[in-house]
Amino acid sequence: MSDQASRLRNLVEERAVEDALAREIGELYFDVAENTRVIAITSGKGGTGKTSLAVNLAIGLQSAGQKVMLIDADIGMANVNLLMGSVTNRSLIDLLNDDVELEDVVENGVSGVKYISGIAAVEATLNLNRAEQRKLHKKLGRCSDMANVIIIDTGAGLSRNVIEFILASEEVLLVTTPEPTAIADAYSVIKAYTKYTERRNIKLVVNRVHEEEDCDDVAEKINQTTQKFLGVSIDCLGYIYEDKTVSEAVHKQEPFIIGSPNSAAARCVQELVKSLLNGERMGSVSRGWRGFLDRLFGY
Ligand SMILES: Nc1ncnc2c1ncn2[C@@H]1O[C@H](COP(=O)(O)OP(=O)(O)O)[C@@H](O)[C@H]1O
Ligand SMILES: [Mg+2]
Repeated sequence: MSDQASRLRNLVEERAVEDALAREIGELYFDVAENTRVIAITSGKGGTGKTSLAVNLAIGLQSAGQKVMLIDADIGMANVNLLMGSVTNRSLIDLLNDDVELEDVVENGVSGVKYISGIAAVEATLNLNRAEQRKLHKKLGRCSDMANVIIIDTGAGLSRNVIEFILASEEVLLVTTPEPTAIADAYSVIKAYTKYTERRNIKLVVNRVHEEEDCDDVAEKINQTTQKFLGVSIDCLGYIYEDKTVSEAVHKQEPFIIGSPNSAAARCVQELVKSLLNGERMGSVSRGWRGFLDRLFGY
């Protein structure tokens, strides 16, 4: 066989393996109850604000009348429980033990949001074998009895783990900041995602913007690249302002949507909640006095 023919055959085989993997993942996870909405929150680069968004969005959705469960799937870097303000001793990984049931790992968090911690007792990854996957699948199945919205805080980047979570979720929020490195890494996630699935349910959230227009700029930059190289466009759900309330809230271990509901960041999350619930693009949020001062003094 010529070099070219064997390379072609390898490519076709690779593609078949990827397709089979995607089908398998789809079959494995995609049968949660139809009325349960599953939203994965992911990013290319770490530290873009996934956990802050996941926690505050969960509380915002719960306050809007939804029954919300938050699953911290960022094993190793798990920190949802810090923000949920309680100490957990059981986590997602513990479900692999035969004597641990779903009720044992579900905690009652702030505002009645249920959550499952991602803290791993030992350095563990979620590269599960088939038997372990089946076990998790079976035990997690009943989450949909406890919630009608399930939010998953995934890790950052392109590990198999993260890709599996985002492929299996019906909706994906891809968090980026306006930083060029974060934008480039967000593009890599979209590229991986479009390679594995035909679904187009990934939406951008641009965090740490100074002006509303920054969000459009970032979305445009990403879309120029995705259209050129992948032939797809990605919708933008909305943005969150740069706001020191967010880091203060992390230090205080109190979600900003509760501790500072009038802050610019909290008002953005409230708009994101509305837009998730009514399917429309996020409305304008004024930055208030601090925004005025920033503009006045040219920050
Ligand atoms: N909108 C924001 N304004 C100011 N700082 C932010 C904002 N979003 C995130 N941060 C900062 O970035 C840090 C990382 O956020 P986090 O939600 O933990 O990111 P990730 O989960 O993606 O790693 C926070 O502790 C906070 O200091
Ligand atoms: Mg995080």
